[in-house]
This record gives sequence, structure tokens and C-alpha cells, in this order.
Amino acid sequence: MSDKKRRSQHWYGKLDKDGFIHRSWMKNQGFPDHAFDGRPIIGICNTWSELTPCNSGLRVLAEAVKRGVWEAGGFPVEFPVMSLGETQMKPTAMLFRNLLAMDVEESIRAYGIDGVVLLGGCDKTTPGQLMGAASVDLPTIVVSSGPMLNGKWQGKDIGSGTDVWKFSEDVRAGDMTLADFMAAESGMSRSAGVCMTMGTASTMASLCEAMGVCLPTNAALPAVDARRTALAHLTGKRIVEMVEEDLVLSKVLTKANFENAILANAAVGGSTNAVIHLLAIAGRMEIDLRLEDFEIGGEIPLLVNCMPSGKYLMEDFCYAGGMPVVLKELGDRLRSANTVLNKDISTYADGAECFNRDVIRPFDDPLKPAAGLRVLKGNLAPEGAIVKPSAASDHLLSHEGKAHVFETIEDLKATIDDPDLPVDETTILVLKGVGPKGYPGMPEVGNMPIPGKLVKQGVRDMVRVSDGRMSGTAFGTVVLHVSPESTAGGPLALVETGDTIRLDAQAGVLELLVDDAELERRRAARTEPDPHYTRGYARLYIDHVLQAHQGADLDFLVGRDTRLVTRESH
Ligand code: FES
Ligand code: MG
Repeated sequence: MSDKKRRSQHWYGKLDKDGFIHRSWMKNQGFPDHAFDGRPIIGICNTWSELTPCNSGLRVLAEAVKRGVWEAGGFPVEFPVMSLGETQMKPTAMLFRNLLAMDVEESIRAYGIDGVVLLGGCDKTTPGQLMGAASVDLPTIVVSSGPMLNGKWQGKDIGSGTDVWKFSEDVRAGDMTLADFMAAESGMSRSAGVCMTMGTASTMASLCEAMGVCLPTNAALPAVDARRTALAHLTGKRIVEMVEEDLVLSKVLTKANFENAILANAAVGGSTNAVIHLLAIAGRMEIDLRLEDFEIGGEIPLLVNCMPSGKYLMEDFCYAGGMPVVLKELGDRLRSANTVLNKDISTYADGAECFNRDVIRPFDDPLKPAAGLRVLKGNLAPEGAIVKPSAASDHLLSHEGKAHVFETIEDLKATIDDPDLPVDETTILVLKGVGPKGYPGMPEVGNMPIPGKLVKQGVRDMVRVSDGRMSGTAFGTVVLHVSPESTAGGPLALVETGDTIRLDAQAGVLELLVDDAELERRRAARTEPDPHYTRGYARLYIDHVLQAHQGADLDFLVGRDTRLVTRESH
């Protein structure tokens, strides 16, 4: 250890009234004197909640982390932070990602801890925790919930989210009974853990591994696998060493780690939501990551055959070898970058072996070539938009068609099944008002349902364009994150039914083929929509949220403040 006084000693090492207060009240939990003798105090930041079912296994993992911390000579203290249940919160858990990040940041800063273990899993919890931790910059390590066991129903594997979207369209098309639909619910989610498709949760866990902010194998071990509990124990040991080594987060994460995350996201067929989350985390770290940087993933092939881009599930990915195999396949393409082990990321692939080549393909025999997310630009998205080719239909990735515009989500819900809706399979569906300020919170509604009359004809994909997001479990030729959003006056606000839109994913183009004079006329006639919220956190959010291409953080939360708080509570 350096001669720098340990952070926790500014709370517990004081032989005065303040030290008395800090220690005495903690002792009401039965901690002995030696817990305060200067050993590393490790915060375990837990997003466990019964309203976040994906994180319901985190109590078990917290206990395992504590064992590891004690074993290594540290003192573990668990604390709760706001939890974000993706499937339970309205209008969208994304509205609260930045609120969780504030909770995490201020909890870490205000308490006398030396290092922190982040226990998260469900979609927004991982990025929210990393954003908050990044703004304080203590030694930090992640343990993820881990995926649920594979969904099972009627003798088949079914995937979280992905099969919900499929079944729901089957019911609308008359190909599945409502009784069967309801029966599938219990088979889909049958253990603790996060979505077992390569949705946003498993994507973010996979990217944590590629970024080196968790121990190897953290991404894919099932939530209920005893090896995950052992990994949590080992993580507890490691965070104590990280405090001794003063290995703060900014000594682990540099731009290279984010570039590795982008490469890995392409290889695993990861979620579009990773873009917004990585941009936001980098913003906290004061790392200059931009939407354009995601283009480096463009030439990386799809290696992992998991839903929604492929057919398997996370349990299969784990048994095939998991992220260490993916990192091995990426090989020299990975940037040299540090990890929580204080070793290069290449060491995460040491000893990796693939046990099922249909689940994880070799780099030179991929599932799809050039599968990474495409960044789109053009007069319809001056600051960018994205599309995920690995989950799209090849024939629609280059497409010109007439727009059918839904002005609001309510407009869409009211008219999508209208038998007279003037659309065919070449129509481009456009949805406005679902960006960060618009909904608010940029909900996962960008994968609009296929209009009822077309779904009955067997149409399962159309080009869809919005300023919203889509679930990491979703699929289709869906253009997302159009920036600036329509509610903020972006050109998307000016699109009218019947306009022609051109998408060319390969060339990175999204154009509205309407001349400038006409667009100016429409702009002048436009009126500002009224905000949906006038008070509380949602008001703060609407007033301060950045656009999608900037990570949708609140403007005043970008960056960090690593100062020690010196003013005492009494
Ligand atoms: Fe929580 Fe998918 S809804 S991980
Ligand atoms: Mg989601």
C-alpha cells in the first residue's frame, strides 16, 4: 500500500467524536473492533429487488462476495441502491437509469468505503451502476446476476423477449392460440437471472467481460450455477487486492477498453442499447467516445449464435465456453487494455476452449460477415441513428419506400390494426415522440408491431424508423436512436405520410427525400409538444437529458468528481 491514508480511515480511523459516531453506530450490527483497524472496507452495491426479478439472485451473490472479502482481510458492507426492473417499470426503466447512477455515485461518495463491488444484471442496472461508480473513481468491480436457465415450453427452448415478440405476432396472425400464449409465460422465466437471450443484460455483462471490469466467465454462467457463486466469492477477494493496489476504475478503463467492447458487441450480436450505455459510461470517465467510433465494429463478423441474432440461448453459450472463447477468436483485433486483474485483456482468453462450434463460430467461419451495428447519417438523422444488421432482413437493409407516420405511440396503438391502414410491405413505418425527452426516457418501442393486415398476410419485417430504442431481445430492420429526436425539433418531426425515405445500411445513409424549401415550410409551421411531466425527477430529466448520440445522460452528470468529502455530519 502507498502511504496515502486509506479513504475509509477518514471515517473510521479518527480518535474523536466523529470517529466515535461512525464506529459506534456500525457496531450495533455486531462488528468487532478489528473491523475498523484500517483494513479495506468494501461496499457491495446491491440492486436486489423483488420488483427486479432479473436481479432476485443477488442476495446469494452478495453473501458470497462477503466471504471473499473477509477471507482476503477486508470488511464488507452491503448497501442497497435503487433497482430498475426493466419488465415492470412504466413508462420505461431507461427514464431512471440516470437516477440510479446518481444514487450509486452519491452513495459511494458519501460513505467510508475504499472499493466497491457492483451487483447488477437487469438491463439498466449494469450501466447505471458503472456510470455512477465512474464519477467517483474508486477501485470497482462488477458481478452480474447471470442469465436465467434456458426457457422451456412444449419440448422446445424459448428465449426471453425474442419469443415474446414472435408469439405476440403469431397470435395477431391467428397462428397461435391465446391459451398457448399464456401457457408459455411460466416456461419462459423459470429460474433467477436475467433474460437468457443476448438481450441488453447479457450484452452488457458480455461487454463488461470484454472491457475487463469483471472476472473472466462472469457474463455467461447461469444465475443459479454454483460456479457463479464461487465467482462472486473470488470477486470479493480480488476487490480487496485492488484496493491494496490502488487500482481505481480510471486505471482500468481507457478508450481501448471501450473499443474492445464495441468489437465484442459485434461478435456476440449484442444489443443496440449498448451504444447509449457505453457512450454514457465513457462520458463519466471523460473518455472521448463518439457514435462514429462504433463503426470499428462494422467489419466484425457475428460469432455467437444466440437469439435474437441466432438460435441458441445463454446457457448454451456458457457451456460452449462463453466470452473467453469470443475474446480468443477476436485475438489480435482486440486493443491492448488493462483489466481488474491489472493484466492485459488478452489474459482473459488464456486456456479458452470452444466446446460447441455451432454456438460460437470461429472468426473465419462466422454466422454472418460484417455484423456490427451500422451508424447512419443523413438529413433525417444529422447526429446519427443506428441499425443492427445481424438482427435485420438482408433485403431491407438497402430500401427506399414511402413513409407512414405515427405522430405518437397512442396514434400507433389506435391505428396499427386498422384494416384500411394505407400500408404495404414496402412502406417505412415512422414513429415520432419516443426519444429521451419525448416519451420521456426513450422507451423500447422502436420495433413497432407489423400492421395487423400485413401480419395476417405473413409479413414479418418492415423498415421501421424512430427516435426510440428497442429491446436487446428484439429483431427486425429497425432504425433506432434517430438524433436529434423529434420532440427536440429534429428533422424526424417534419416527416409526413407519403414522403420517401431512403435507407442504405451498408453506406450508412438515412435520407428523407423531401427538398429543403418544403422542410423549412414544415419547420415554420411546427408547434412544440407539451411536456408530459411538469414536476419531479421526470421534469429534471426532460430539462437536462442529452440526446441519444451523446448517451442520454443528464448534462450536469457528465464527468467526475473524485474529491474526498471532508465536511463531517455532526
Ligand atoms: Fe431484466 Fe431482460 S428484463 S434482463
Ligand atoms: Mg429492455
